[in-house]
Amino acid sequence: MSDELNIMEQFKNFGQGHVFDHWEFLSEEEQVLLLEQADSIDLSEIHSLCEGLDAESESLDLSNLNPANYIKRPENGGDLNEWKDSFKIGNKALIEGKVAFFTVAGGQGTRLGFDGPKGTFPITPVQHNTLFQVFSDKVFRAQELAGKKLHWFIMTSLLNHEETVQFFTKNDFFRLDKDQVHFFSQGLMPALSPEGKILMEAKGLISMTPDGHGGALRALVKSGSVEFMEQEGIEIISYFQVDNPLVHIADPEFIGFHANAGSEMSSKMVVKAYAGEKVGHFCSLEDVLTVIEYSDMPYELARQKDDEGDLLYKSGSVAIHILDREFIKRIGSGSDDACKLPFHKAFKKIKVLGTDGESAKPDEENGYKMEMFVFDALPLAKNPIIIEALRADEFSPVKNAKGVDSADTCKEDQLRQWAGWLESVGIDLILDETGLPMTNFEVRPVYAASKHEFLNKWEESDPKPIIQENTVL
Ligand code: UD1
Repeated sequence: MSDELNIMEQFKNFGQGHVFDHWEFLSEEEQVLLLEQADSIDLSEIHSLCEGLDAESESLDLSNLNPANYIKRPENGGDLNEWKDSFKIGNKALIEGKVAFFTVAGGQGTRLGFDGPKGTFPITPVQHNTLFQVFSDKVFRAQELAGKKLHWFIMTSLLNHEETVQFFTKNDFFRLDKDQVHFFSQGLMPALSPEGKILMEAKGLISMTPDGHGGALRALVKSGSVEFMEQEGIEIISYFQVDNPLVHIADPEFIGFHANAGSEMSSKMVVKAYAGEKVGHFCSLEDVLTVIEYSDMPYELARQKDDEGDLLYKSGSVAIHILDREFIKRIGSGSDDACKLPFHKAFKKIKVLGTDGESAKPDEENGYKMEMFVFDALPLAKNPIIIEALRADEFSPVKNAKGVDSADTCKEDQLRQWAGWLESVGIDLILDETGLPMTNFEVRPVYAASKHEFLNKWEESDPKPIIQENTVL
């Protein structure tokens, strides 16, 4: 049997034969595309997802839930010597070129209302540098300190791959070498009707959407990135989202704690700002370290207090992780059934082919998008650890057009952070009651990407820079 007939036959056997209903009306080109799409779908995976698809979302059993343990920062009671030791271990790994960076940038940024890949959004207060430039500068700085080229992997999706690559090309890779920035597109999943039928966007087009940032693990393997890492001696992957310019991408302490614990996956937490903050919660569920997403965490639990009057479930996920290459390989290759990430379903309005032969987005939700979340890998990892980060130093995501977690709040948080660095070298700017300086200025990551680096750089500077309106360091 030809490949073509074979694929069609399999779709029929799995009750998805309708995908080829309009086959004979398609052009040759459309047929090739449809076959390509169909061939990329794992029908047995879809089949198992369909079972129970129309059932009410089963709520998690949280009867054995406890707050997760985490390693406290020295200023909050952690052991300073442990942090110092971890710094040395992490720094060594960076200098030895064992660390690579990884950004997930396949999302749509719908809430931000920005037309284009989110990484191309301008975010710094004076130069209006984009998120991608900020991260590029951080990579540049990290390799300057490491004394060797460090690699950066960027996961895009079909929604933004071309535009993302073009953006880097147009900007000459922000002074990085072209061969150290690696783009790959994440996987896709077909959208499903409540009855478990694959939805068609057009006669020759299956409705496919990105498979979530958890798809990164598969995509890192499939794209050959893991193999490349192996060849380059890269063992540790520093993972961050495209939306948080404060992230410390090359954090020796974090890397050191991870390596020292023999952990396969480690994460950073910040103390939640308020009970209902929209972040994942690090918890111990049945004694296993797990992230309970904000949407799955009952508010009664999210706001529960401990004996000291603090939030009991205070560990918020900032979506900054470290993963071991071999762990990614194990989960991403799908070789071990016990180590598969679950899919989360989201009921959405999905553009479909109507009976009139036209494609349209309906007024009501009509189908499920299926996504994997990277933090679901944490319970599958050996010796996972969580370390504390300070919100003011590391977390100010750009998610919304206005209000909380917007470009405005993020720019202010950058300024507050830099004002804090300046204060520690004896420069007192005029601040408002929230710590926001009255002067608009900018510290580029190529000057310093952390307080520690800033102190060193300032010490070396002679004469010392003068900070005034629109100064850029
Ligand atoms: C996310 C986390 C949440 C965490 C918070 C911190 C989820 C489900 N939740 O929330 O636990 O506390 O960030 O800021 O992620 N992405 C892809 N491909 C996809 C989908 C997303 O690459 O298919 C990328 C996006 O480009 C973005 C990141 O993943 O960089 C986060 O996605 P988003 O949907 O914005 O997550 P949040 O709901 O903000």
